[in-house]
Amino acid sequence: MDVDDLIEKCRRNNQRAFITGMLHYNGDHFLQGLEGGRAEVSAIYHRIARDPRHSSIILISSQDVRERMFPTWSMGMHEGMDDQARNIFLRYFSTDDVNPATVNVDSLLDVLQDLAIKMP
Ligand SMILES: Cc1cc2nc3c(=O)[nH]c(=O)nc-3n(C[C@H](O)[C@H](O)[C@H](O)COP(=O)(O)O)c2cc1C
Repeated sequence: MDVDDLIEKCRRNNQRAFITGMLHYNGDHFLQGLEGGRAEVSAIYHRIARDPRHSSIILISSQDVRERMFPTWSMGMHEGMDDQARNIFLRYFSTDDVNPATVNVDSLLDVLQDLAIKMP
């Protein structure tokens, strides 16, 4: 999959809908946080879920928040699993390949935020 093309489109669409967020791709799985208005996030979630470029999508959590975590990113992108990324995962979990069905949501959000801080 051409992740550069994907992220460019994400950013263009999300900007229009005042959606912000963060996407991590370890080469195998995507982990994405989306934030914005309920209707907008819901609409983009359903569109992403229909995208045939990925499968087995799991909604890990949907929650009301007081403030955005990624206000400056129409879609931040972290790709790969280098030592720095692995250490971030291992700070919160016992593995760098977490199970979305059982993972602790708050820790996962912390991972996404830590990955965003390390982005160029
Ligand atoms: C893992 C993943 C994450 C995506 N995230 C977004 C996103 O945040 N915003 C977005 O507009 N499209 C996202 N897409 C792409 C959408 O599935 C879809 O292709 C796109 O929104 C279509 O836009 P268009 O109608 O302008 O061509 C994502 C796709 C994948 C596979």
